[in-house]
Amino acid sequence: MRKLIAGMKISVDEKIEGPEGHADWVSAWSDDYGLMPQIDACVLGGGMYPGYEQYWTAIEKEPNTPVWITGKAPTSAEIEWARFAAETPHYVLSNTITSARWPKTSFVRGIDEIADLKQQPGKDLYLVGGARTAASLIDAGLVDELRLIVYPLIAGEGKALFPTTGHRHRLELRNVQQLQGGRLSLIYAIGNGAG
Ligand SMILES: NC(=O)c1ccc[n+]([C@@H]2O[C@H](COP(=O)([O-])OP(=O)(O)OC[C@H]3O[C@@H](n4cnc5c(N)ncnc54)[C@H](OP(=O)(O)O)[C@@H]3O)[C@@H](O)[C@H]2O)c1
Repeated sequence: MRKLIAGMKISVDEKIEGPEGHADWVSAWSDDYGLMPQIDACVLGGGMYPGYEQYWTAIEKEPNTPVWITGKAPTSAEIEWARFAAETPHYVLSNTITSARWPKTSFVRGIDEIADLKQQPGKDLYLVGGARTAASLIDAGLVDELRLIVYPLIAGEGKALFPTTGHRHRLELRNVQQLQGGRLSLIYAIGNGAG
């Protein structure tokens, strides 16, 4: 069965974004979880999809123009992800959004459809976020792996990674790596039973 792998960037106090609605401490949003070779589709929530599509479309169309979250010209890794994302199927969990610019984006109306997706043949699935979607899919026992990049920062005010997780989930540490800029990469397998 295909794995569903969540990748999130967090501060030490577990914030995924500041009070302005984005993580201004993240200098690039490329795939630094190392997932690109092993996935062939992305899953994300309706809350983040419109901004996500807009962000990566802007980079794909105008790779030399500074982008709004980082305020800098995209890195080569971001340009690579922008091209990959535009041609990779995206499954958006939403009951309200009905259209997308990317032709390979489709909408799923419930988490059962994500369970079905895992049963289909293919490479692994990347769960891009956001916070509520990640929490509900973890609670439903559908997320197999959690990849975190921890930034050396106490962010203070902001949105927490798992504001709505309802259950305890055991994690098994699979890999730890120190990255540039004092960041830490953590890879956990998620146990899908209470403990
Ligand atoms: N730091 C990071 O690595 C990172 C990564 C990704 C995202 N983010 C942040 O996450 C934020 C978005 O997160 P969010 O929590 O506001 O929104 P979200 O998880 O992207 O989307 C939530 C929406 O998904 C739909 N949905 C349908 N069924 C659902 C279910 N069973 N469980 C959960 N959602 C369901 C609902 O949309 P409908 O009302 O349309 O049905 C719901 O409003 C963004 O602002 C972004 O900054 C951070």
